[in-house]
Amino acid sequence: MAVIADQCPDLKVTVVDINQARIDAWNDSDLSKLPVYEPGLDDVVARARGRNLFFSTAVDEAIASADMVFISVNTPTKSKGLGAGQASDLRWVEACARQVAQSARGHTIVVEKSTLPVRTAEAVKAILSVSEQSADGVKRSFAVLSNPEFLAEGTAIPDLQTPDRVLIGGEHPEAIDALASVYGRWVPQERILRTNLWSSELSKLTANAFLAQRISSINSVGALCEATGADVREVARAIGTDSRIGSKFLQAGPGFGGSCFQKDILNLVYLCRHFGLPDVADYWESVVHLNTWQQQRIARTVVQKLLGTVTGKHLAILGFAFKANTNDTREAPAIRIAKDLLEEGAQLAIHDPKVDSEQIARDLQLSASTEPDFKSGPSRAALSGEGTWWPSDDIASALRGADAVIILTEWNQYRDLDWSALAPLMRRPSWVFDARSVVKPEEVQSAGLNLWRVGEGQP
Ligand code: UGA
Repeated sequence: MAVIADQCPDLKVTVVDINQARIDAWNDSDLSKLPVYEPGLDDVVARARGRNLFFSTAVDEAIASADMVFISVNTPTKSKGLGAGQASDLRWVEACARQVAQSARGHTIVVEKSTLPVRTAEAVKAILSVSEQSADGVKRSFAVLSNPEFLAEGTAIPDLQTPDRVLIGGEHPEAIDALASVYGRWVPQERILRTNLWSSELSKLTANAFLAQRISSINSVGALCEATGADVREVARAIGTDSRIGSKFLQAGPGFGGSCFQKDILNLVYLCRHFGLPDVADYWESVVHLNTWQQQRIARTVVQKLLGTVTGKHLAILGFAFKANTNDTREAPAIRIAKDLLEEGAQLAIHDPKVDSEQIARDLQLSASTEPDFKSGPSRAALSGEGTWWPSDDIASALRGADAVIILTEWNQYRDLDWSALAPLMRRPSWVFDARSVVKPEEVQSAGLNLWRVGEGQP
């Protein structure tokens, strides 16, 4: 919404939330305190806030005065009840639709921005249509559009400023034209695709499923490369130059994370089962299985290479966010890998330039310990075989006394580490596990460290 406000200074954009603390953070004069870390977002907010971009908790007033309402709420995977573990929890979408139905005045275009299961618009329409006929004397009418978002975290601002496409699904041509004219201020017309409602909703799930499938595919090939002496980077380059395959999203790694891929595939799986397509459901579900397997495989590899045990060993984890340039840890591969290693009794020093230690503690469901004093011998936890972790602000102290370094996020600062200076800090034999292919192998090896790189077989 901030980018819409930035690109369309003549439109008034009001972002509303019932959470006062969050709205206060969006209004904070210190732009480093915005609730979301996203490169370039602070500049966009600085330009538009107070001019035509407003953040408020006055939800009803904002709806009443709006010509268009975008529903952009969370749709996490249901944790209980029908479809638990797969279907999306639509309670917030429904609550929003009800509030819009009650507070809207005149004609309102309601835009689904959240990622939703196919045919959710039907439920939204049903709620809205009741209020069109309500007897409260207020005239209301609605048109529902689906306008899914394709931005990726870390590159959200450029993705929104120059999108590959904007997708608008709907049944009312005038409503589609109205939304297309907003995007048309900065997006070329040929990139604004119009579809029916259900195609638009399904395209969003499908796009994420295809992207995730490429990652599981390349990770499966990576495991085969390790077993056969091939190198997944070479294979990715070789297949990626085929213009039909393309080179993007072929980076082998610790598996995909983020709030969307797994959730959207599981949602697709649930829909397939619901519509009587169990084989299609199994096909997509295997993408998630492979991803979980990849994360477990990395933890297992670390244990095997460290002589079959990590109990009481000190390991440094570099990177906790699900990818670089974000502080988001939702479904981050680091969570499962760290948990598996803690289960084995490892002592983990965790470094991430953007993720704070409270978040890591919540994700691991384990409070941080204080950093042990290695000079005074093994800690009590290490001796008892209990897994512990502590946050490390700098890389050198995370590595001091460590048996291994495990790189799980591709932060730029991990690409240029001075291994010749770091290696002497570690206990020998020492290992570098590079799950993101960011290190320069020659530099690691010439510093006397053992190296495992994802998808690299020994020829
Ligand atoms: C993803 C999609 O890329 C967006 O188009 C979509 O709008 C968004 O989900 C969403 O539905 O909200 P995002 O989750 O922010 O965006 O991040 P991606 O860049 O897609 O990365 C997802 C995961 O895949 C990360 O853990 C990343 O490290 C991993 N990945 C990505 C790989 O392991 N290899 C690759 O080659 C690419």
